[in-house]
Amino acid sequence: MAGWVTEEKDQVTGFLVARRIASDLEILNFAVRPDERQKGVGTLLIREAVAWGKTFAAHKAFLEVRSSNLAALLFYERQGFEVTGHRPRYYAAPIEDALVLAVTLA
Ligand SMILES: CC(C)(COP(=O)(O)OP(=O)(O)OC[C@H]1O[C@@H](n2cnc3c(N)ncnc32)[C@H](O)[C@@H]1OP(=O)(O)O)[C@@H](O)C(=O)NCCC(=O)NCCS
Repeated sequence: MAGWVTEEKDQVTGFLVARRIASDLEILNFAVRPDERQKGVGTLLIREAVAWGKTFAAHKAFLEVRSSNLAALLFYERQGFEVTGHRPRYYAAPIEDALVLAVTLA
């Protein structure tokens, strides 16, 4: 398990938590403070996570995301992720499908 936090003037602006699963990297939790979005903070965090994955020669990075989360889908597409799976009714409150996204690292 690994985590990264970004700060601006002693205030947290974003965080990312990831774990190693065998030879893959899973992004578990990742968010940027609303007023700090679309300034490159998310890109910085995901690059750090991918760099960590490369230290154990991760084959791919993957994650689940709500199918309605357009900002995240566009973000991950920009980072080279592609939809590789679909988990119906994966999320609760509200019930929603998850999309599985992945990018090949090695
Ligand atoms: C997804 C998230 C972490 C992205 O963080 P961010 O700091 O805004 O991302 P960046 O500024 O590095 O964005 C990089 C690129 O992603 C795309 N992107 C990011 N947010 C976008 C949005 N709201 N609409 C369209 N494109 C977007 C753009 O291509 C952007 O590049 P640009 O700013 O040059 O156009 C952020 O939107 C967030 O915290 N969302 C809520 C929590 C969440 O959904 N987490 C992920 C769950 S799996």
